[in-house]
Amino acid sequence: MEKFIVNQIKEIKEQVGDKQVLLGLSGGVDSAVCAALISKAIPGQLVCIYVDHGFMRKNETQEVVETFSNRDLKLIAVDASKRFLDKLKGVTDPEQKRKIIGNEFIEVFDEEARKLGKIGFLAQGTILPDVIESGKDKNSTIKSHHNVGGLPETMDFVGLVEPLRSLYKDQVREVGKLLGLPDYITQRQPFPGPGLAIRIIGEITQERLNMLKEADFILREEIGKLPKKPDQYFAALTNTRTVGAYKGKRSYGYVLALRAVETVDFMNASYMHIPHEVLSKISQRITSEVEGITRIVYDITNKPPGTIEWE
Ligand code: XMP
Repeated sequence: MEKFIVNQIKEIKEQVGDKQVLLGLSGGVDSAVCAALISKAIPGQLVCIYVDHGFMRKNETQEVVETFSNRDLKLIAVDASKRFLDKLKGVTDPEQKRKIIGNEFIEVFDEEARKLGKIGFLAQGTILPDVIESGKDKNSTIKSHHNVGGLPETMDFVGLVEPLRSLYKDQVREVGKLLGLPDYITQRQPFPGPGLAIRIIGEITQERLNMLKEADFILREEIGKLPKKPDQYFAALTNTRTVGAYKGKRSYGYVLALRAVETVDFMNASYMHIPHEVLSKISQRITSEVEGITRIVYDITNKPPGTIEWE
């Protein structure tokens, strides 16, 4: 991978020359490693747009901004959370949520990109599985897995910069580590483009979003202490309400589901046998620390027949 970095730096320099490059930074491993690599190859010529749709996990936006603010690139971080929440008012259908978020994302990205004027190249964190996947039959997917952040179609670029096209995920992580990215970026678990929005069943409100952010943070904190961590673990907020108590008073709050799976390829997955003491601690912490959540359940569904996400 050290040799890969040296070669890519040379190739990017040759391809781009003195032109500027635009990259959509999502906070995920691929775009982050792409940003680190390109900014090393052509310091000062990379512009990154990070659209915060408001559905990132707790602290994630700050982590992304901190990680990239001291690199040789221009970072434009847009807080568009209010716009997204407004557009999703009253929407409960999961596919519709995805569509609205996808469209809004492109709109915000496009608006920001236009402010920059003419940019030479567009960079993308495409990796080898994406290249393979895009050649397959799209009809076989159960639900739309498109990531948010499509291309601003009306902008004309001289070309595409995709330095990670030949790499598998573990190689991308290694390149990131060699380029000095922190573990919380390179070792990040998969996270859907529309973020926590698809882990809230029913309507998304600021209040419900805050609940999920706090509960998910507690789950990640406790599961993060396990010697062998699941491949993916998160919380999903259901729209079922149940009676419970919060700080000694009756409360009519939501049921929260905990999900933790072991998987190699995310096509098949087994629920993880988390020790009961750990589940118990998570349950106690969430119901006592997060107002509005009164009951915790652990998802023991494998994939198939279930999916990993709860939407
Ligand atoms: P499912 O729920 O279909 O998810 O079992 C399989 C894996 O894909 C992730 N996922 C996404 N990843 N953009 C992504 O990059 C998306 O829109 C998206 N939706 C689901 C999911 O978290 C799991 O790892």
